Amino acid sequence: MHLVILGATGPTGRALTDQALAAGHHVTAVARRAAALPARPGLTAVAADATREGALDAAVAGADAVLSALGVQPSRAPVSLYSAGIANAVTAMERHGVKRLLAVSSAVLDPAWRPSGEFFFNNVLDPYVNRVVARAAHEDMRRMEALLADSTLDWTVVRPSGLFDHSGVTAYRTAPESADGLYTARVDLAAAMLRETEENAHLRAAMGVVTVDTRPGLLKLLRDEVLRKR
Ligand SMILES: NC(=O)c1ccc[n+]([C@@H]2O[C@H](COP(=O)([O-])OP(=O)(O)OC[C@H]3O[C@@H](n4cnc5c(N)ncnc54)[C@H](OP(=O)(O)O)[C@@H]3O)[C@@H](O)[C@H]2O)c1
Repeated sequence: MHLVILGATGPTGRALTDQALAAGHHVTAVARRAAALPARPGLTAVAADATREGALDAAVAGADAVLSALGVQPSRAPVSLYSAGIANAVTAMERHGVKRLLAVSSAVLDPAWRPSGEFFFNNVLDPYVNRVVARAAHEDMRRMEALLADSTLDWTVVRPSGLFDHSGVTAYRTAPESADGLYTARVDLAAAMLRETEENAHLRAAMGVVTVDTRPGLLKLLRDEVLRKR
């Protein structure tokens, strides 16, 4: 397949790109810093600001599917990347007759998501980190999800739990709306998205994906994610 990956320079985007190329797909990798991506057979890098009107037009033409791993660092500042980026993608896809779009959102978007057995997270961390610090991002993800629901595309919203870096794909779990678990390895998120691109099991719907075989230390995770260089 010819896949367009938005946010290809981020850690999830890189995992998506690596796995897609390894599976024999052709990848058009889009990000503002696309020049930072090493050249590889099957990879076309396109530098573009996804929020600029028309910026995704050329990249999307002729694609079989678009996979978005666009993201912003959590902060209380207003966020429009998710909705503006996906609005541009939807317009470009409708113009070029490309139907399939998968977009990373978050398990927090499912109001029923409360991972089992995670008392400290559910009662202390989540109400502060996800519902206060990252609130602007989640509000814009909600606008993105609404835009997709209003589109004519075959979309899937993919909602991971807390992301962490891990060396290899595990026996991850998926579920409609969100999955019961606190963490998602980025390699598992990427693998679940590529599998969904082929299987179309959650068309015009949201799916969750969680990692259950391993989990990061909570303090290390917070440190890695907060101090991570972009
Ligand atoms: N961290 C968590 O625990 C968590 C939990 C649930 C969901 N998520 C979501 O998961 C997704 C992936 O997160 P991640 O941490 O792996 O990646 P990330 O660091 O958020 O990567 C963001 C990507 O978006 C690109 N980007 C940002 N603004 C752009 C713009 N205007 N135009 C084009 N590209 C732009 C960046 O590339 P350039 O800077 O090169 O443009 C980068 O490739 C995000 O949507 C995030 O919100 C995260």
